[in-house]
Amino acid sequence: MTETLAPDDAGIARAARLLAEAELVAFPTETVYGLGGDARSDQAVAGIYAAKGRPSFNPLIVHLPDLAAVEGYAVLGPNARSLAQAFWPGPLTLVLPLRDGAGLSPLVTAGLPTVAIRVPAHPLAQRLLRAFGGPVAAPSANPSGRVSPTRAEHVLEGLSGRIAAVLDGGPCAVGLESTIVAADPQPTLLRPGGIPVEALQAALGQPLSIGGDAQKPSAPGQLASHYAPEAGVRLNATDAAPGEVLVGFGPIKGALTLSDSGDLVEAAARLFDLLRRADQLAGPGGRIAFAPVPETGLGLAINDRLRRAAAPRK
Ligand code: TXA
Ligand code: MG
Repeated sequence: MTETLAPDDAGIARAARLLAEAELVAFPTETVYGLGGDARSDQAVAGIYAAKGRPSFNPLIVHLPDLAAVEGYAVLGPNARSLAQAFWPGPLTLVLPLRDGAGLSPLVTAGLPTVAIRVPAHPLAQRLLRAFGGPVAAPSANPSGRVSPTRAEHVLEGLSGRIAAVLDGGPCAVGLESTIVAADPQPTLLRPGGIPVEALQAALGQPLSIGGDAQKPSAPGQLASHYAPEAGVRLNATDAAPGEVLVGFGPIKGALTLSDSGDLVEAAARLFDLLRRADQLAGPGGRIAFAPVPETGLGLAINDRLRRAAAPRK
């Protein structure tokens, strides 16, 4: 049985105690819900891979409450430090050289000499990390290859009975996973996400090279087919073909809409919930069509997720 924990002192204390016992607890961040386990514990980290059905070559993000805590696990170069100061806490993950003797389970990094680290801003994530007092490994709390969860109900749909608890913090405000950057020496975008590339470039005062490529993934989790609903997905649709549920954006109106006003922040926050709802509406054998979304700001990350949702399934 998976416990649902309330977002109060008792819920946080219970969640922290379960983590300390190497149990798995899903918790809200401002991006998506994470499936948390003690990043120092082989048992907990192996449990995360098992609960998700995740290929073990795909390393996990380690969550910490602040930059001071991060210094104990990773080495920050000058670009990493600028980005950390500008965007932490927040939806940014930095891939950093692992510090000697950091004490993380080798399963977290899947044998890489680097570690992906994030300082989330969500108040419940912050409280949980501080109550637990250690590094929390957390991928998105969905079965591998499926749509990421932005509500506690989504977590339970995919993982009920496979994890100890979910801390219910309501819907996630950003709705897309963190932007992943390898910062030094050359800042490189590994996954578009909740912080737009334009904002990263402004903070760095230099362009980012693009390293995320479905053919040759630099963040190893970047597989072409991901975020897959049951229904097939068609992109850049201007109207619904027979048997399709159209998801609109701006001027293109659908049965569901990412954002009537064409607002990318609203569209990002709604994307994963709408993918699930469209899937239910489409029903067995049905299809989903998405209206075009511009490739600027958060649109880069939205389109990245939509292309993976539409990619041929393995
Ligand atoms: O917003 C988020 O980032 C959410 C919340 C829960 O924090 N987490 C998340 O984790 O999206 P996950 O496991 O679904 O995605 C982690 C990505 C994968 O693509 C993985 O390959 C990449 O981070 N990654 C982890 N460690 C890495 C490393 N050392 N080098 C390159 N990529 C790495
Ligand atoms: Mg994921």
